[in-house]
Amino acid sequence: MGNLMRRYWQPALLSSEVPEPDGAPVRVRLLGEDLVAFRDTNGDVGLIDAFCPHRRAPMFFGRNEECGMRCVYHGWKFDRSGECVDMPSEPPDSLFKTKVRIGAYPTSERGGMVWAYLGPAEFQPPAPDYELLRAPETHRHVSKTFEQANWLQALEGGIDTSHSSFVHNQDIHNKKLLRNADTAPNIEVEKTSYGFRYAGIRRLNEEQDYARVYHYVLPAQQLRGGVTESAGGKKEVPALHGHLWVPIDDETTFTYNWIYSYDPAIPLDHEHAIGHEIYSGRGPEDYIPGTYQLKRNRDNDYLIDRDLQRTKTYTGIKGINTQDYALQEGMGPICDRTHEHLGTSDRAIIAARQLLFEALDAVERGEAPKGTNPVDYSQVRPVDLEIPRGSRWQELLERELIARF
Ligand code: FES
Ligand SMILES: [Fe+2]
Repeated sequence: MGNLMRRYWQPALLSSEVPEPDGAPVRVRLLGEDLVAFRDTNGDVGLIDAFCPHRRAPMFFGRNEECGMRCVYHGWKFDRSGECVDMPSEPPDSLFKTKVRIGAYPTSERGGMVWAYLGPAEFQPPAPDYELLRAPETHRHVSKTFEQANWLQALEGGIDTSHSSFVHNQDIHNKKLLRNADTAPNIEVEKTSYGFRYAGIRRLNEEQDYARVYHYVLPAQQLRGGVTESAGGKKEVPALHGHLWVPIDDETTFTYNWIYSYDPAIPLDHEHAIGHEIYSGRGPEDYIPGTYQLKRNRDNDYLIDRDLQRTKTYTGIKGINTQDYALQEGMGPICDRTHEHLGTSDRAIIAARQLLFEALDAVERGEAPKGTNPVDYSQVRPVDLEIPRGSRWQELLERELIARF
């Protein structure tokens, strides 16, 4: 699976973590590998080994200067391509400098994220190209949260639409809530060239269904419509949402959370974006300062309120995504799936697992796995809308499912 994950560009960090040229470097752990990121004098982001190839000093303490990182132990300096550009501890005529490199990975900065490709050079796909990444900065907001669980169980939570009637139900006695109207959505999954798209169809009344169309893009990206804007299911602003789950290692994950306005004429206002983060449980006050870890976490049982649980919600936990973390992290760092019992509501989970197995086979055969070619997914967008009962969402929502940025 590590070899498969290395066939994709992965977000390595937020652009905001390295805000300025020649600024402080940051530690990055990605796919089980320890790295250091720095923005060089030209403004380009380098991603290099965490340890100096000389005698393994930590590059995190390095000096970011004139388009390179200088190891402060003996002064060797490397540029962002990994080339050693200065070796002041050796005689000036030494050629040793030309023989030593530091490990370095290509990066691509798009959508407020620095993406990195950690796979074999001969298989490097074009840089990722989601509509999110083409939306102007004024229209989007991206954040990142630490999760103490394997990426796959986090992803499986993200493509599991039926859980929202329970985990995310903000008022279990309010019959008007969409989430209470139909707790057993009919799930239709269609495999595509990038993964699958699926619709969760809930019955609203005699005339209307509510269709929520998601996309799953391999290896671990979910795109969804903006129903969570309000508990009543009415959209306050035109917004699409999603997550990217990025393995730090086998047992921990960074979840990249994104939201963007899908209407070119309407920017995403900052207050709305922050409101959405607070609703999700990761507002500015919700993080342990200086980290991407939430204050409500496994160590304190997510500050579960048993009284709230008895009277109003199933979980008693505040924050939509904090509720997810409680379930996903609570399974243990790697869920033991041999004890599961999958039902009809798990169709999307089953399809995702099949696709991942197929992708593993493709890599073993020497082929490109699904989700590596941006042409396949660059024009897709999710949607959630009410539709006449019994109509075909594929036809009715056809125009809504196409990117406009
Ligand atoms: S360990 Fe880095 S220059 Fe010696
Ligand atoms: Fe959830």
